[in-house]
Amino acid sequence: MKKILITGALGQIGSELMTHLRSIYGTDNVIGTDIRKGEQDGPFEIVDVTDAKRLHEVAKAYNVDTIMHLAALLSAKAEEMPQKAWDINMGGLMNALEVARELELQFFTPSSIGAFGPSTPKNNTPQDTLQRPTTMYGVNKVAGELLCDYYYDRFGVDTRGVRFPGLISYVAPPGGGTTDYAVEIYYEAIKNKAYTSFIGEGTYMDMMYMPDALHSIVQLMEADASKLQHRNAFNIAAISAAPEDFAAAIKTYIPEFQMDYQVDPVRQKIAESWPNSIDASAAQKEWGFKAEYNLDAMTKDMLDKLAVKLG
Ligand code: SER
Repeated sequence: MKKILITGALGQIGSELMTHLRSIYGTDNVIGTDIRKGEQDGPFEIVDVTDAKRLHEVAKAYNVDTIMHLAALLSAKAEEMPQKAWDINMGGLMNALEVARELELQFFTPSSIGAFGPSTPKNNTPQDTLQRPTTMYGVNKVAGELLCDYYYDRFGVDTRGVRFPGLISYVAPPGGGTTDYAVEIYYEAIKNKAYTSFIGEGTYMDMMYMPDALHSIVQLMEADASKLQHRNAFNIAAISAAPEDFAAAIKTYIPEFQMDYQVDPVRQKIAESWPNSIDASAAQKEWGFKAEYNLDAMTKDMLDKLAVKLG
């Protein structure tokens, strides 16, 4: 992995992954693409992932050896527009996999805790288990895991992926996910010392701080291929928490912080269909995954960084 094309490079993961990869592999070796132009320096191209021809042309022109496909609609957005979600999430993935096959590229795309559903065991969710998600996003993620396995088995494309928990960061907002409350809460804690949660008390989901997510992508992509049994769908985990756990962690640093609830039934239903906590032992065993940040360490860093960012 030394010349990498990222789709969705201005999204929540992409904006930080681009900077992270450039610090490791050099600015000119990481080509950002998205449907709009950002403000970063370095190679960048406008690419709509539903345009297979354009994606192929850009990957070929830059002579990349890896594609990291991040362009997708998140869970709540996908419930608002399921047909569009199918077109972007599945159509975009298929196009990106085809480019990887044609140009013989290594391939990464994220799956999610959203690939599980109400019939999945909720606690310590096993690596290999029932996956009958009830959201369009989840249907896309399961199909995506299978499609990536298929491209490896059938065409020998070096596809790899993880099931990300809700990702928390202070750089780019997520936009349209169910776990977004766990990002918003920090912004509101700094701005107003109060937050109204759209997810109900006692609703546990897996979460992870962005530096751990970025590190895990690089670690997986550089891992010895012969050790990877679960190529495209490694459970990874760091923090299992409910809204009141975030509130308590924030209160350690901002004692006046107050939280109340105004539950959004759509996102609450999605949250309740996802695991409380997932088992990451396969990722630990097969490529050494380990998260550094727990809830307290993440909270301290988020509040410090956002205090600077928001002045
Ligand atoms: N954070 C995502 C969402 O809430 C889950 O992968 O949609």
